[in-house]
Amino acid sequence: MDKLSTVMAVEQAVKQRSLGEGSGHDWWHIDRVRNMALHLASEEKADAYVTELAALLHDVDDWKFSENPAELPEVKHIMAEALVPEKLQERIATIIHETSFKGAGVQTPISSIESACVQDADRLDAIGAIGVARAFAFGGAKQRPLFEPEIAPENHDDFAAYQQNGGHTINHFYEKLLLLKDRMQTKTGKLMAFERHAFMEVYLERFMAEWNGDA
Ligand code: ADP
Ligand code: NI
Repeated sequence: MDKLSTVMAVEQAVKQRSLGEGSGHDWWHIDRVRNMALHLASEEKADAYVTELAALLHDVDDWKFSENPAELPEVKHIMAEALVPEKLQERIATIIHETSFKGAGVQTPISSIESACVQDADRLDAIGAIGVARAFAFGGAKQRPLFEPEIAPENHDDFAAYQQNGGHTINHFYEKLLLLKDRMQTKTGKLMAFERHAFMEVYLERFMAEWNGDA
């Protein structure tokens, strides 16, 4: 298969699995991440083909839905069907493992420029106006309250503690979303995160003012 046919086969398989998903990990999240990752890749002179395939596949076996995120079974199945060569499959698997946020106190280093582009693109989609929408969509899908004033945010030092956390959605801003701007890997990503971050701060201020009846 040529590169275009492979991308199209992977895109179709991912789209079929993710259309209509209700926790903010639907097809349009994948499509936005793919487009942003390709934009970052062109700025950073990263390999567009590897970046696009990894971006398309990055959430298929995410720990939030998959029974076996370490092995990436669905990702491997899709890549095999699309005849992605073995060596490239390994590169893509590495990028996917490096992409996810794993807790406020856990570093998520990247080992390639393509990985930087996918990680930044995924994180940009978790902040700003879209990020606010996705956070509450995820919280709703998990039956989490919007806010519980008595439950303070936590700093998770390991991935397992972060995964087990079931707090309210406003805490998620302090436990993850507001930390992302300082963890961007690419120059373009950093610039874009700055503005999206500022929007979230205004949003949270307004949320609290309305919560307290001050606005
Ligand atoms: P990552 O792999 O880095 O978690 P995803 O693409 O899976 O990135 O995006 C995670 C999305 O789910 C984010 O938009 C985030 O706001 C939302 N999310 C994750 N955990 C929570 C939570 N505890 N409360 C609210 N939203 C959450
Ligand atoms: Ni994602």
